[in-house]
Amino acid sequence: MAPSRVDEASRWVWAGGTGRGRDLCGSPPAATLPAMTTPSRTQIEAAAARIAPHIRRTPVIRLRGADLGLAVDPILKLELLQATGSFKPRGAFNRMLSAPLPPAGVVTASGGNHGAAVAYAAERLGAKAEVFCPVTTPAAKTSRIEGHGAVLHRVGQAYDEARQASEAHAATTGGMIVHAYDQPEVLAGQGTVGLELQQDAPEATHVLVAVGGGGLIGGIAAWYAGTATQVIAVEPESCPTLHTALREGRPVPCPVGGLAADSLGARQIGGLAFAVAKDHVAGSVLVTDVAIREAQRRLWAALRLVAEPGGAAALAALSSGAWVPPRGARVAVVVCGANTDPASVTG
Ligand SMILES: Cc1ncc(COP(=O)(O)O)c(C=O)c1O
Repeated sequence: MAPSRVDEASRWVWAGGTGRGRDLCGSPPAATLPAMTTPSRTQIEAAAARIAPHIRRTPVIRLRGADLGLAVDPILKLELLQATGSFKPRGAFNRMLSAPLPPAGVVTASGGNHGAAVAYAAERLGAKAEVFCPVTTPAAKTSRIEGHGAVLHRVGQAYDEARQASEAHAATTGGMIVHAYDQPEVLAGQGTVGLELQQDAPEATHVLVAVGGGGLIGGIAAWYAGTATQVIAVEPESCPTLHTALREGRPVPCPVGGLAADSLGARQIGGLAFAVAKDHVAGSVLVTDVAIREAQRRLWAALRLVAEPGGAAALAALSSGAWVPPRGARVAVVVCGANTDPASVTG
């Protein structure tokens, strides 16, 4: 299905989905999809039990719309209060607790938050961790990685170059790769955000989720699959990986740039996430950097919360009007990361 144009600022909304399993954009060629697709609710529940000793159950709060300058009263899942400052430990722990850890430990590539989560998990589990980040990863993230005792390698300008280096390294050391978004255990771990949200806010009719490589939305959409709650994807205009894949009918490489590139800057949507999203994501929205910064500022003004750009992107869809909720909607927003220089938000 072709996307429909909604405004003059090259912002597109793919909104044909019901979130209930219709294939709305045509199936991509089978060769581009991995065999295993959607994590089941049982797998996500198992992940929740597995990681429970290691993660925080983050709060859900209900606000008056006026508090954030919104026309609707939002529900916020404050996942930026998670250990390490993002949702990423959920997937990292689930992956690392699903198989014996080799003597060489774990290897990963990351824009920063996933690396911090893997470093944290390895520290708690007594394993060695090596983390490959592009040189653009901010100090707010590298300090967490090194603070948890991981070996930090800085390679390339973008995540994809770091990923290639990490995979070559793991092939020589025998380290376990903990992928930032494209492994079944990672999706199932991130899906526990959806499980908790549904338990704590069963009234939510729509859930807004930021997308980078797609582990977070893949897990959350898998959790809500088959329910009446619709999951909406939000990406910066400068990193539209899922949006482009839904339009093209398959994952394709995209440009990477902008304010949130250190968290939402995967070059291409993960195959697992795409397989889930094409059936279970109801809409895809793009937001500008200006809108993301404004959402960060509103979170600071209303709640004294510092969200990083990727963490505020989902709220930006609502606060900028890029996505307009249908009448009567109860909208939940996943605020999913905090690792940024506070002065960029509070100043
Ligand atoms: C704060 C934040 N939000 C969202 C994302 C996107 O997650 P995913 O790559 O699973 O789509 C990331 C990824 O690093 C992140 O750090």
